[in-house]
Amino acid sequence: MRFETAAIHSEGGPCPATGAIVTPIYQTSTFVFEDIGKTKGYDYSRTANPTRKALEDTIAVLEGGKAGSAFATGMAAEATVMHLLKQGDHVISQEDLYGGTYRLFENVMKNFGLEFTFVRMDDKDEIEAAIRPNTRMIWIETISNPLLNIVDVEMVASIAKKRGLLTVADNTLPSPYLLRPLEYGIDLVVHSTTKYLNGHCDVVGGAVVSANEELAERVRFLSNAMGTCASPFDCWLVLRGIKTLPIRMTQHCQSAAAIANFLEKHPKIKRVFYPGLKSHPHYKIAKKQMNGYSGMVSFEIVGGTKAVKSFLRKVKIFSLAESLGGVDSLVEHPATMSHASMPEDFRKKVGITGDLIRLSIGLENIDDLREDLEQALEHA
Ligand SMILES: Cc1ncc(COP(=O)(O)O)c(C=O)c1O
Repeated sequence: MRFETAAIHSEGGPCPATGAIVTPIYQTSTFVFEDIGKTKGYDYSRTANPTRKALEDTIAVLEGGKAGSAFATGMAAEATVMHLLKQGDHVISQEDLYGGTYRLFENVMKNFGLEFTFVRMDDKDEIEAAIRPNTRMIWIETISNPLLNIVDVEMVASIAKKRGLLTVADNTLPSPYLLRPLEYGIDLVVHSTTKYLNGHCDVVGGAVVSANEELAERVRFLSNAMGTCASPFDCWLVLRGIKTLPIRMTQHCQSAAAIANFLEKHPKIKRVFYPGLKSHPHYKIAKKQMNGYSGMVSFEIVGGTKAVKSFLRKVKIFSLAESLGGVDSLVEHPATMSHASMPEDFRKKVGITGDLIRLSIGLENIDDLREDLEQALEHA
């Protein structure tokens, strides 16, 4: 099956009991045993649930992995994956990454004896130089949030393979429609399904897809042991969203490209970050490994804090809100919102300035979106 068909037909066919074409919401905590030690495949919903399984199977197919696990949030997925490690292990992470991931590493996992080194993930020498005898994992964001840098996943996977390191790719921003990291040799893909996979700003969720059965089994064990799994209703919503992922992503990409081009020519814009622009430092690698450039556009505005505040207050169709990847266009200020948990000096080093604004381009009419930005910039 091709991607668009798989997005609709990977959940396991009609319900065997009723013929319902859509997987029902199995809103049950437990399952009755047929006899002592004999079940119909399910015993307790923390361990496994049929609605969750339908979602897990679908995401695994779309990412080209062996198996998937669905989690309550993207952070629950990440926290679970970090428990594959043990005290004293060292992780090499990208320095420009989602603020919540940075917080999980620095403010939570460090307390359990994990060590972290943050590097520029586009610098092979820097990655190799960071490897220590106790390094166990390399963590990347395939498109970084909020600077929209692109990681050469094949390069990272090949460095890791040579040293036997586990690779984890947060593939939230491209979604599997644009990029499938496992095909390049990555071991685990992580998602905030809150974003493009669900796509409708109405659920928080996470997922992990494993390249092989051994890893899948370890992730399933941790999900059950830690209780980080997703609820049946949330899984049902994400499954519903995934069916339109290809058509939504196509439009997100098209509209984001139009907005990036518009902003690049605007006199009140200092710099535009969009991997589909030829001016983007990773344009070539983005073109090589992805089927599109996603729906996020970041930019720096001329005029400092005053201009930033005025712009954020003047937009009408873009809503000032955290999150991304949904039908609604959103705008946010990383320094005070999604990346506020990063210390200011680290943000500065990475390049997340106070003048940076991040847009998630939704599915509204492109002319309405452009006009909204135009009028807000006029007042900025
Ligand atoms: C790239 C990325 N990864 C992970 C997360 C965390 O996901 P969640 O908010 O679903 O916990 C986010 C949230 O914004 C994100 O942008």
